[in-house]
Amino acid sequence: MLEQIKETAAWIKEHTQMRPRTAIILGTGLGHLAEEIEIEDEFSYKDIPNFPVSTVEGHSGKLIFGRLGDKDVMALQGRFHYYEGYNMKQVTFPIRVMYELGIKTLFVSNASGGMNPNFKIGDLMLITDHINFMPEHPLHGPNFPTGPRFPDMHEAYDHELLDMARSIAKEKGIHTVEGVYLATQGPTFETPAEYRMYHIWGADAVGMSTVPEVIVAHHCGIRTFGISIITDLGVEGKIVEVSHEEVQRAANAVQPLMADIFREMVHRID
Ligand code: HPA
Repeated sequence: MLEQIKETAAWIKEHTQMRPRTAIILGTGLGHLAEEIEIEDEFSYKDIPNFPVSTVEGHSGKLIFGRLGDKDVMALQGRFHYYEGYNMKQVTFPIRVMYELGIKTLFVSNASGGMNPNFKIGDLMLITDHINFMPEHPLHGPNFPTGPRFPDMHEAYDHELLDMARSIAKEKGIHTVEGVYLATQGPTFETPAEYRMYHIWGADAVGMSTVPEVIVAHHCGIRTFGISIITDLGVEGKIVEVSHEEVQRAANAVQPLMADIFREMVHRID
C-alpha cells in the first residue's frame, strides 16, 4: 500500500510542475468550482497509476492542478464512495497521496440530507464535527507512520478555518448554518425512522462520504475544512421522496456560494 502511494505521488510529480499546499474535494454536483480553476495540468483518474476509478453519475473523475485566484491548488473532481464497492483504503487513497505531495490544508464538500429542523434546502452547513457510522474504519489495520495508532479527534475540523469561514460568510452576506455530519454507507437514503435516530444521536446532516477522507487527512496532520450542502430534508413532516437527480439539482443551485467561500479561504490561508 505504502509503495503504491509513493509510486502514485512520484508519477504525479513527474507529470506536473505544480506543488500546491491546498487540496479541494468536490462532491456530488459540486464540480462548478473546478471551472474557476486556471488549469495547468489535469489527469483522468483512469490514467493515474493505482488510482481507483469513479463510477457515479455526476462525478467526472479528474485530478486537477491549477490556480484558484492567486493560489496553487489540487482539486479532485469526483471522489470514491464506499457504496460503489471500494474498500476504505481505496476511498482514502487520494488523501494518502496528497500527504506525500505535501498538501497541508484540505477542503471537502458534499451533499447531504438535513435533519436539524431549522435547516432549509439549499443551506450551506459548515461542518463542525462528525459521527463516523461507516461499517469499515479507514485506519483499520497496521498503523501508518503519518500519525499515532490512536488518533485524537477532538478537532477534526480545524477551528481556525471554521472561524475564517464564518467571517467570510458574514462579510459576503452568505447565509450559513453549522452542524454535525453523520456518514452512512449508503446507497439507500434514510427511512424516516433512520433520520429521526441520527438526529437523536446528535447529527444535523447525513450523507455517504467525507468522514473517511477527513479521518485519514487528520491522521496525516492535514488541516481540514468542510461544507455540506443541504439538498433534502429528513425532518418529520417535511420528508418527501428523494432522488440522486434532486440532490444534484439542489447542490448545483447553491454551489456558486460555496465556491465563493472556498475561493476566499484559499486566498487567505498561507
Ligand atoms: N441521505 C444520505 N445521503 C444524502 C442525502 C440524504 O438524505 N442527501 C444527499 N446525500
